Amino acid sequence: MSEKGEREIVRGLRDVAAAETSISYVDPKGSLYYLGYNIDDLVGNIIYAEVAYLLIHKKLPNQRELDTFNAELISEMKLPEAVIESIRATPKRCHPMDVLRTEVSRLGEYDLDANDRSKEADLKRATRIIAQVPTIVATLHRSRMDEPTPSPREDFSFAKNFLYMFKGTPPSNEETDVLHRLLILHADHGFNASTFAARVTASTNSDMYSAVTSAIGTLRGPLHGGASEKVMDMLDDIGQEEHVEEYVQGLLDNRKKVMGFGHRVYLAEDPRTKHLRGMVEKLCHRKRTMDLYRKCIKIEGIVHERKGIYPNLDFYAAVTMDALGVPKEFFTPFFTTSRVSGWVAHTMEQYEDAVLLRPSSKYVGTFGSTFVPIDKR
Ligand SMILES: CC(C)(COP(=O)(O)OP(=O)(O)OC[C@H]1O[C@@H](n2cnc3c(N)ncnc32)[C@H](O)[C@@H]1OP(=O)(O)O)[C@@H](O)C(=O)NCCC(=O)NCCS
Repeated sequence: MSEKGEREIVRGLRDVAAAETSISYVDPKGSLYYLGYNIDDLVGNIIYAEVAYLLIHKKLPNQRELDTFNAELISEMKLPEAVIESIRATPKRCHPMDVLRTEVSRLGEYDLDANDRSKEADLKRATRIIAQVPTIVATLHRSRMDEPTPSPREDFSFAKNFLYMFKGTPPSNEETDVLHRLLILHADHGFNASTFAARVTASTNSDMYSAVTSAIGTLRGPLHGGASEKVMDMLDDIGQEEHVEEYVQGLLDNRKKVMGFGHRVYLAEDPRTKHLRGMVEKLCHRKRTMDLYRKCIKIEGIVHERKGIYPNLDFYAAVTMDALGVPKEFFTPFFTTSRVSGWVAHTMEQYEDAVLLRPSSKYVGTFGSTFVPIDKR
């Protein structure tokens, strides 16, 4: 409240700390930590399932725990038959995020332990949701290609199985390595908008499926996880590399946002960008990736020079996913398959905090409106 007793608005909740968390820390100076581990020490040294385990169990697994977790994830990847049928029945005009949002919500109908809200049940539920989201994404993609979805293989890691089921053929070692890194980098990010949405839902003591459904709807927007698809739209629109300058200057002259740039928290470069840029550089033996990379480097230079801002996670993630053969409308679903591990971790943390997240607002409407019955209006 101000001295006059008026509520003060923090527009966009910028810099407002809404709750405590020990899951991840976004350092504005340009670092990201999961449970205290700098992501620079994790990327390339561990696989995605270890990060998912870290987020929900709040400790890194030993080999035995990882093997058990990986096996549990693979066995939980199976979807209820009704969900598979529903995915297959969705019209092709629907964006994959529409389908994902609906089907994750539907999964809640098939949770036989739905009434068990113990910590143990929530942990099992979290593991199951982490496992089933990629299967929904893969099943949707395969069904849109009129192809069957292969069953997961026990000799593959969870992440490798996802790509295998998505593409229909076993991925190469290079592709698998890229996917692990990509998923690790997307897994959690403090109180980003979708995580906050999940936590608001969880704060009402609602169930985990509802929290994840809220988060999916929030991630989808182009200012958040939907940005990577828009980055690829921009790269497609630009066409040849020589058109970059004119296109980007045109956007900036018209005060339009360049997708994949800027960040609410980071004052320096997003710490995930260097990993993604490096991955793209390694994938430049593919001609298409090389062409996209050259455009990206030019865009980065122009935007930084004119606005002083840096690319965020979504900029090079778009080119990385393209190199993996992922169609652009599936970029945000790929993001979801990883960020879901952060959402369920935050949902459980919010249950422990047990406080309703309910901000206030500043009323700017009128008072004293005179009521008129409908037949007199
Ligand atoms: C991420 C984002 C929503 C953060 O927004 P924010 O913290 O509210 O920052 P603002 O929108 O207030 O931007 C601050 C300034 O930087 C500029 N800016 C921020 N992002 C920009 C972008 N992508 N392109 C061009 N200018 C940008 C704004 O125009 C503004 O400039 P001004 O002060 O001259 O008006 C914003 O940077 C954005 O829309 N980026 C594009 C979408 C995207 O990539 N999202 C993924 C985020 S991980």
